[in-house]
Amino acid sequence: MNTRREFLEQSTVALAAASAMVHTSSEVQAAEGRTVTMAAIGCGGQGTSLLKTFADMPDVKIAYVCDPDEARAAKAADAVKDKQSPKTISDLRRVLDDPAVEAVTVATPDHWHAPATLLALAAGKHVYVEKPCSHNIREGRLMVEAAERTKKIVQVGTQSRSTPFIREMFAKLRDGIIGEIVVAKAWNSQRRKDIGHLQPSEAPGGFDYDLWIGPAPMVPFQANRQHYNWHWWYDFGTGDAGNDGVHELDIARWGLGVDVHPSRVAAVGGKYGFDDDQQFPDTLYTAFDYPSDGAVGHKKQLIFEMRIWSPYKQEGHDNACAFYGTNGMLILGKNGGYKLYGPGSKLIEEASGKADTQAHRRNFVDCVYSGQKPNADILNGHLSATLCHLANIAARTGRTLQFDPAKEEIVGDAEAAALVGRTYREGHWAVPKVSS
Ligand SMILES: NC(=O)c1ccc[n+]([C@@H]2O[C@H](COP(=O)([O-])OP(=O)(O)OC[C@H]3O[C@@H](n4cnc5c(N)ncnc54)[C@H](O)[C@@H]3O)[C@@H](O)[C@H]2O)c1
Repeated sequence: MNTRREFLEQSTVALAAASAMVHTSSEVQAAEGRTVTMAAIGCGGQGTSLLKTFADMPDVKIAYVCDPDEARAAKAADAVKDKQSPKTISDLRRVLDDPAVEAVTVATPDHWHAPATLLALAAGKHVYVEKPCSHNIREGRLMVEAAERTKKIVQVGTQSRSTPFIREMFAKLRDGIIGEIVVAKAWNSQRRKDIGHLQPSEAPGGFDYDLWIGPAPMVPFQANRQHYNWHWWYDFGTGDAGNDGVHELDIARWGLGVDVHPSRVAAVGGKYGFDDDQQFPDTLYTAFDYPSDGAVGHKKQLIFEMRIWSPYKQEGHDNACAFYGTNGMLILGKNGGYKLYGPGSKLIEEASGKADTQAHRRNFVDCVYSGQKPNADILNGHLSATLCHLANIAARTGRTLQFDPAKEEIVGDAEAAALVGRTYREGHWAVPKVSS
């Protein structure tokens, strides 16, 4: 068994090696005259973080930064002005009209993820779309089909998929280091902010609110459902299950080794922590049942726990996963590391580690060149986003859901079944079309 110190040293070496690879690949492509022209759609905190990473790559040219909030687009352009000179623009259609643009990032609110991705794919662009890939299950399916049809690269922003220490540990799980993994538990335990109770007001100048609403039904501007706070509203976000939760749900599903949908979902949740306008639960417990062929030893279960009013960690991690095998247990936090226990709770291995966002972003550009499937391809993104959507639907209806994994339909519950999709603003140009 390696000592903790040896593991820490090994992880540091592995991280440095991954980082070096990121640069080498970009420099080699640039030296050989290859470039990818990109545009950033959505310039909030995450859009700007993506933009800065791509702008730093010698083989990437940033042609546009696009946001209905003029001040945000200008700030994003300013953030990369030493290396790139993108045009600022508010309407994403003008970006997609430009044949020089080969790839876009989509870091908008969730309700725009699928509409923007579908339009971009139809315009022949590759897409790096933030997580959760969709606002609802139906949109995720349309994205999978559009990626297959257009043969373009779609990478989802679940960076753990490109993180060396997680990939290496899950290869060991597959080799049976702790036996058969029967149950995985993901948790999201952290302190979020109260968004208060507000009334509609005037939208600020320089902000194209109609464009921000896009294909969602029009509602009046209200300050606590705009930038970032849209996460907590049904029409625009997916709650914290689809915010931080989807990272852990994705890791849990990956470690559990299931690449299908669950067939039964039970959840209890609600607002226990915040007296404010948030619509999604701040407290949520969900169990997903993967029956496989139903035989003992073939069934698997995934559990998701969420408390977003809790200013403390659990098992040393705010957000993390536990994997329960027939011969041991793994506790793994994407931004902490892992501890692996064998029979008798004996510590077998431990290491620190951090999600490698840079490697994930570089993986996208490398796949644009190579045509290979990216590490977080859209089918995986859709399978994991579906878990957050099903958890939210079960909590919202207060009923156990029977889900048909092949048809992606909720069976025997008309109210829940309607939440597999959404209502759109009638006639809006960005409403997803089945063949777009
Ligand atoms: N991968 C990660 O670890 C990670 C981390 C943070 C956020 N995210 C995801 O990134 C996304 C953005 O998060 P954020 O915190 O930056 O949100 P935000 O609300 O601060 O920023 C979103 C931006 O998109 C813009 N926008 C809205 N409609 C648009 C349109 N039609 N065209 C172009 N821009 C449009 C908004 O004006 C805003 O500036 C979310 O989906 C979030 O879940 C991922």
